Amino acid sequence: MERPTRPRVFVTRQLPGDALARLAAQVSLRVWEEQLPPPRDVLLAEAREADGLITLLTDRVDEPLLDGAHRLRAVSNVAVGYDNIDVAACTARRIPVGNTPGVLTETTADFAFALMMALARRVAEADTYVRAGRWRTWEPGLLLGTDVYGATLGLVGLGAIGAAMARRARGFGMRLLYVNRRARPDLEAELGLTRVDKATLLAESDFVSLHVPLNAGTRHWLGRAEFAAMKPGALLVNTARGPVVDQAALVEALSGGHLGGAALDVTDPEPLPSDSPLLTLPNLLLAPHIASASHATRGRMASMAVDNLLAALQGRKPPHCINP
Ligand code: DGY
Repeated sequence: MERPTRPRVFVTRQLPGDALARLAAQVSLRVWEEQLPPPRDVLLAEAREADGLITLLTDRVDEPLLDGAHRLRAVSNVAVGYDNIDVAACTARRIPVGNTPGVLTETTADFAFALMMALARRVAEADTYVRAGRWRTWEPGLLLGTDVYGATLGLVGLGAIGAAMARRARGFGMRLLYVNRRARPDLEAELGLTRVDKATLLAESDFVSLHVPLNAGTRHWLGRAEFAAMKPGALLVNTARGPVVDQAALVEALSGGHLGGAALDVTDPEPLPSDSPLLTLPNLLLAPHIASASHATRGRMASMAVDNLLAALQGRKPPHCINP
């Protein structure tokens, strides 16, 4: 008797943990082994032959890809965000799309809080200062920073990660403001949050931390007018998506001195070009999009992406399915 052929799956990068070994036991697997994402022509060619794709936020899944991918029955993104995927185009072709919510919430909030603390207290600058041999004595005015304890934190977006950030901030006695599409009275009661309008959040926050997905409504949510409306000396933390901030306006706000500083785990584009003016600014802390990068969390994300993909290939709804 002929054995049924296994579904073909292309994974756009090696993933941490043992999830791909589990997948390999059930499908015919091809994994892109390079550090950089597969070039577009490679991705299109692989998609043409694939029943399933496991993608990262660096891989664009759009109409042109889907038009050539006649066998494709499942797309699984190893991220909670999915702005790299045209979900409507997948839905129109009845291709389920999975993502990895929940498992990275606390890890991402840990990092957002770490960035806020490090920016406020100039940790990276202090490290550079000591290593450069510039530390000569204890000085009353050396590397003065901003207090986090008791300051006002404005949260832009109060989904799972925004709420996890609020829980951490509460332990630091922070006053908590938020803007969100819908009110969250449950979290207001639990965490002492106050829902405000955008103008109030910008005017009153010592720290603004972004926790929204990237979509048409959030692209350039912070632009020139918004930076001008922020409290002088305020600090910005972005662990969401780079294009939520108008980066040219950010450069102006930082170099003009109105904004006290920014900590960015995400930029537009990623990585930044080597001539980006951001790289010349001292009051900026940069990280290479690693907010969810703990051993445990990246392993869980990979595992969840495999579960989503296998479910779809078996004709079931993925446990974490983005399509409406
Ligand atoms: C996501 O999941 O969307 C992050 O940006 C990467 O973990």
